[in-house]
Amino acid sequence: MRVTEKAHLELDKILQHGDLAIDATLGNGYDSQFLAQKVGTSGHVYAFDIQKESIEQSIQLLEKNQLVNRVTFNQSCHSNIIKNIPINHQGKVKSVTFNLGYLPGGDKKIITKPESTLSAIKQAHFCLSDDGIISLIAYRGHEGGRSEYEEIEKLIKQEDWQVQKIPGSEAPDSPVLFIVGKA
Ligand SMILES: C[S@@+](CC[C@H](N)C(=O)[O-])C[C@H]1O[C@@H](n2cnc3c(N)ncnc32)[C@H](O)[C@@H]1O
Repeated sequence: MRVTEKAHLELDKILQHGDLAIDATLGNGYDSQFLAQKVGTSGHVYAFDIQKESIEQSIQLLEKNQLVNRVTFNQSCHSNIIKNIPINHQGKVKSVTFNLGYLPGGDKKIITKPESTLSAIKQAHFCLSDDGIISLIAYRGHEGGRSEYEEIEKLIKQEDWQVQKIPGSEAPDSPVLFIVGKA
């Protein structure tokens, strides 16, 4: 099973209709599509990506599936999460999804970077509800990915967060899924 499927399994355990969710790396919109289905008509998804291409493709995908009204699209760095989430929703977010790296089928030079990723993770953690989780996939196999992964590990240790770490396989450069709890 791919790590993206493992992430969806973890999210599936906790997300319910009416929940708030954040997709911190919108990409082609597949995670937001999944989240929008899970939160139903009474919930909401806030999605972030720096690329116009990602926003446009995702809007098309979600329109096709009649889910577009459940998502707010922010063409913005995820280090602006707090600026873009209504104050009354901060502390009430059930899940924040990160799928790091580059846009599949897009420009491989536009990738997530440790400094903004760490800032976004801290903001994501702040926005979580008491029973909320961060689901984060880090890629150790591409240039820049390994150091980003190591920085994330350092942050989790430093903050003493409760974490479950699920590697994609036994290969040392396989992607890793982190599930971080609020507590
Ligand atoms: C692996 S893709 C995400 C895949 C996506 N979740 C999906 O379901 O298709 C990573 C995305 O992160 C975006 N990204 C890179 N740096 C970012 C940043 N600072 N803030 C938000 N998104 C960023 C890229 O543009 C790319 O679209």
